[in-house]
Amino acid sequence: SWTTTNVVEESIAAIREQIGDKRAICGLSGGVDSAVAAALVQRAIGDRLTCVYVDHGLMRKGESEQVEKDFVAATGVRLKVVDAEERFLTALAGVSDPEEKRKIIGREFIRVFEQAASEIVAEGREAGGGDVEFLVQGTLYPDVVESGGGTGTANIKSHHNVGGLPEDLTFQLVEPLRKLFKDEVRMVGTEVGLPDEIVQRQPFPGPGLGIRIVGEVTRARLDLLREADAIARHELTAAGLDREIWQCPVVLLADVRSVGVQGDGRTYGHPIVLRPVSSEDAMTADWSRLPYEVLERISTRITNEVDEVNRVVLDVTSKPPGTIEWE
Ligand code: XMP
Repeated sequence: SWTTTNVVEESIAAIREQIGDKRAICGLSGGVDSAVAAALVQRAIGDRLTCVYVDHGLMRKGESEQVEKDFVAATGVRLKVVDAEERFLTALAGVSDPEEKRKIIGREFIRVFEQAASEIVAEGREAGGGDVEFLVQGTLYPDVVESGGGTGTANIKSHHNVGGLPEDLTFQLVEPLRKLFKDEVRMVGTEVGLPDEIVQRQPFPGPGLGIRIVGEVTRARLDLLREADAIARHELTAAGLDREIWQCPVVLLADVRSVGVQGDGRTYGHPIVLRPVSSEDAMTADWSRLPYEVLERISTRITNEVDEVNRVVLDVTSKPPGTIEWE
């Protein structure tokens, strides 16, 4: 029967069976899924797991610091941080197509993991460590289904860790959450001792802000979106709405411009889209009826404080027919 304790015990046994006496790495994204997957694998194989945090430059404000602080503090896991901003932005230069972006990001993640794995092996030889053959991912059931891995389902989008993987992948994948939904993952996280700040965090996609800029991804656009996103998050948290909202993507329509007026001058800037949704499992979602005062504060602050943004618009589409993210 489904109890969280059973799921944890069975999954630890299955991980031990799969990895044997080999070593593994786990990409940490700062999100719930990779944190819970890592915590399970750490329970199973201890220090033969090294977590790798890839700073791809597509993170939100303050996110990188949070991974190091919260997760390492909670688990004491070995962590390797890789600064890969240049690499990702170079690979994404000139690319606007959403699926192409997702595949590039998925591929670059793997290339960085491969490099990290060989460095970990080199560092660990004296300690008797062998090769790193396994890559742990926090793939959930909905990720598999929506990437076309489920039975009879169309490919909606390539989640970076499923449909976005390169074909020449040499790692064997360890995916302990592959049969679980988000609420179950949160229960498992609590069961293995992760704190609420990690377990209750709102979802954030592995490809990060790279799939929240409609158009080409550039550093300047990322900086602009980071500012707008930080304002929206701050105001939603201050209004006490974090639990009510499943997540609120903030999207930059980089290829769209509209005319506005500010002070006594004409502006010609970009729109920012707010996409607050409520959901049980991200397979379906409804747009959140946010209080007008909160929307007003977010809109006023973003248009005043973020250069080149002169409009804030609200996405009032359910899923289906919209998806939660815009790309
Ligand atoms: P969509 O946009 O498909 O999103 O309605 C459903 C949920 O999945 C998240 N998402 C991702 N998470 N890698 C992830 O780790 C991805 O490539 C990815 N794409 C979407 C999205 O934020 C939402 O919670």
